[in-house]
Amino acid sequence: PPNYQPALSDVRILMVGEDGVGKTSLIMSLISEEFPDRTPPRMEEVTIPADVTPERVATHIVDYSKQDQSEAVLHEELKKANVICIVYAANLPDTIAKLTSYWLPTIQEVLGESHGKPVILVGNKSDEAEISNPNHMEQILPVMNQYSEIETCVECSAKKMKNISELFYYAQKAVLHPTHPLYVPEDKE
Ligand code: GTP
Ligand code: MG
Repeated sequence: PPNYQPALSDVRILMVGEDGVGKTSLIMSLISEEFPDRTPPRMEEVTIPADVTPERVATHIVDYSKQDQSEAVLHEELKKANVICIVYAANLPDTIAKLTSYWLPTIQEVLGESHGKPVILVGNKSDEAEISNPNHMEQILPVMNQYSEIETCVECSAKKMKNISELFYYAQKAVLHPTHPLYVPEDKE
């Protein structure tokens, strides 16, 4: 039959972003359901079986760490991913500036300008953002307008266990049912 597309059997989620924004903490918080006291630079690839994911698709979560891995590895992982989560620290404007000065342009260089691979912005450390950087949402909205590959922006806090499972749900959903840009604030209880 025409236009038949087999269903994706696996979703591969890649976590990238500046050093120390909390990529490894987010993965460990999802797996162990508590905030880790200590984190290695990089978490081994995690596979979540289909039957315990919201969309019933086996999901691989891949951590990246500049401390541990080369740029060549980053480029390979960008190509292999089905969805790319760029994590920033909502309390640190420098990590937001790097979205447009490094991460989003690098993804376009590696994958091509109209690559169509969904990108999720992940604003971690929301527990510190209201005090340290109250304008974080105003800093993100123009980025979302400039890059149409951004599917969703999710604010979260590994430390307070806020929006962690939601973040991975939105990443799965971006692959399986891409929609339109969406901003998910952290402050819904
Ligand atoms: P690299 O692997 O070096 O790139 O860092 P990373 O992005 O994996 O960050 P990691 O998870 O190692 O966390 C860095 C620091 O931020 C640690 O001290 C964490 O405890 C802290 N941290 C992580 N998430 C949060 C959060 O939601 N809130 C706060 N306040 N601190 C956090
Ligand atoms: Mg790490």
